[in-house]
Amino acid sequence: MLEKIKYLENEIKGYLIDKTQDIETFRLKYISKKGVLNELFDEFKAESVEDKKIIGKSLNELKQLAEAKFKELSEKLESSSQTSPSAIDLSLPPVSDKTGNLHPLNLTRYKIIEIFERLGFSVADGPEIEDDWHNFSALNFPENHPAREMQDTFFVEKNPDMLLRTHTSNVQIRLMEKQKPPIRSIMPGRVYRNEAISARAHCFFHQIEGLYVDKNVGFADLKQTLFNFAKEMYGKDIEIRFRPSFFPFTEPSAEIDITCLICHGKGCNVCKHSGWVEIAGSGMVHPNVLKNCGIDPEEYTGFAFGMGVERVTQLRYGVNDLRLYSENDVRFLKQFKAVI
Ligand code: DAH
Repeated sequence: MLEKIKYLENEIKGYLIDKTQDIETFRLKYISKKGVLNELFDEFKAESVEDKKIIGKSLNELKQLAEAKFKELSEKLESSSQTSPSAIDLSLPPVSDKTGNLHPLNLTRYKIIEIFERLGFSVADGPEIEDDWHNFSALNFPENHPAREMQDTFFVEKNPDMLLRTHTSNVQIRLMEKQKPPIRSIMPGRVYRNEAISARAHCFFHQIEGLYVDKNVGFADLKQTLFNFAKEMYGKDIEIRFRPSFFPFTEPSAEIDITCLICHGKGCNVCKHSGWVEIAGSGMVHPNVLKNCGIDPEEYTGFAFGMGVERVTQLRYGVNDLRLYSENDVRFLKQFKAVI
């Protein structure tokens, strides 16, 4: 009898179900009145007192095992039937997913790209991990020149020649190295600076670079292009001005300001009470830069500009803390759904 108990124990442990009937079969076979267990209890009665002592315990354990297994199988069947194909009503309308939306910086980036594409600019891309040549030297930043100090960044420890690019101007070089003029491109991307994070500064941000190199490109082309851009981006009433400035890779160089959109020129915190906000740096491509890329500055000239995407977005939407862009707070992000 002990052998029989052992055999049934293994059988019960390994019992599998995949249909509702299986569980009824289990019940009938093992635990119903006419089931094997009751039969065994009847047989048990006929055993000697000595044997009863040994068998009784195992038999009770077998009964408990069968009951526990029955409970387990019933629960399993119930939970699986909730997701079984027959439980899904295909005629019901779908539960709609919450739709996501583009990040405000992407909305701005796409808008800027769209405007320049209409002016005949193509879009180019370049690496964020860059070498010294493309980020600085080829752009006419001499080694140890103080202009490098304004763009401190993160260097790769194992190879100090490699760094996280401080601006998208590196893509100008990469483009001119591999392509002969005419070149008319914009280059969006992420850039890095070694700065303490605050509402007004971050260790990474986004820029859009522009480059136009061809025969007879002059400062008037630069002015007209950026003027056109500002009107398209901010509306016809916007005013634009060029302020003399310095960049190693342009000569002459200028900062581009537009009317402050927050106070409409009256003066506020954002424009430091001047009524103007800076949106881009620009200038005529320095002859040394053209030479560094194998382009003859006697034959070709060009203009370039670089603008910060965060700044443009701030003016479009009135966002005044740079940290919000990378905190991933849905309450902030979902506000930009409808505005493209
Ligand atoms: N690369 C400059 C910066 O990050 C911005 C800039 C200024 C880009 C003048 C240009 C330019 O192409 O012509 O500060």
